[in-house]
Amino acid sequence: MNIVLFGKPGAGKGTQAPMLARQLKVPTLATGDVLRAALKAQTPLGLQAKAFMDKGELVPDAVILGIVAEELKKPEYAHGVLLDGAVRTVPQAEGLEKMLESLGRKVDAVLAFDVDNEEIVRRLSGRTVCDTCQTPYTGRAVGEKCEKCGGKLMRRKDDDPDAVRTRLRVYDEQTSPVLDWYQDLGTNVAIIDAVGAVNEVTNRALRALRP
Ligand code: AP5
Repeated sequence: MNIVLFGKPGAGKGTQAPMLARQLKVPTLATGDVLRAALKAQTPLGLQAKAFMDKGELVPDAVILGIVAEELKKPEYAHGVLLDGAVRTVPQAEGLEKMLESLGRKVDAVLAFDVDNEEIVRRLSGRTVCDTCQTPYTGRAVGEKCEKCGGKLMRRKDDDPDAVRTRLRVYDEQTSPVLDWYQDLGTNVAIIDAVGAVNEVTNRALRALRP
């Protein structure tokens, strides 16, 4: 099962991904997490991506497609993957399609988490994330301990108001056309109402995947 998790910044992709992964028994691949880990390790990839990420802009397609191609070679993704934020432009969707095709696979569904901009700004202004495992939290202060791994909670630089505005603009201009692209291709695109309790949103997503 190959599933694309789609949605505005702050729509809840990173919150839903581990819950869906547990239920569906499919591992997640989050390009944002790969990039932040590279940045933390000060690798050339991380340093190249930093300027784009800090401003809330997209990292170039070739870089993202390179990451996805490398990751998909790993044995843990051989039987399926939940792609969290890995497809944000039409060229990325086209590149992924070709990559999966060469492996005899395809995108089985796109889960598009739907939240309005006012709620996005509210969520991102209150978010802290673990500096180690990147779990997102609401209502927890910077410096507190992550419940999952004991790491320290921090604010993401791209959650500053200017960067959030840029990310929402970039989503409208470059990312939202990807949904039409998948619909034209005949892929199952499910729009999930992503407002409400986290468990309820997970259940809506799981229901959308049932035949
Ligand atoms: P990435 O880390 O993927 O950021 P994003 O897409 O902007 O998404 P976020 O992580 O901000 O939000 P989310 O949807 O995961 O929401 P979350 O679950 O945390 O990418 C970062 C950057 O990397 C990009 O800007 C770009 O520069 C680069 N990049 C990555 N992939 C790329 C690609 N493919 N192409 C080009 N560049 C790429 O939830 C948000 C908050 O809401 C949390 O506090 C959470 O606790 C809370 N919350 C979640 N669900 C609910 C709910 N149901 N009710 C109330 N609160 C909730």
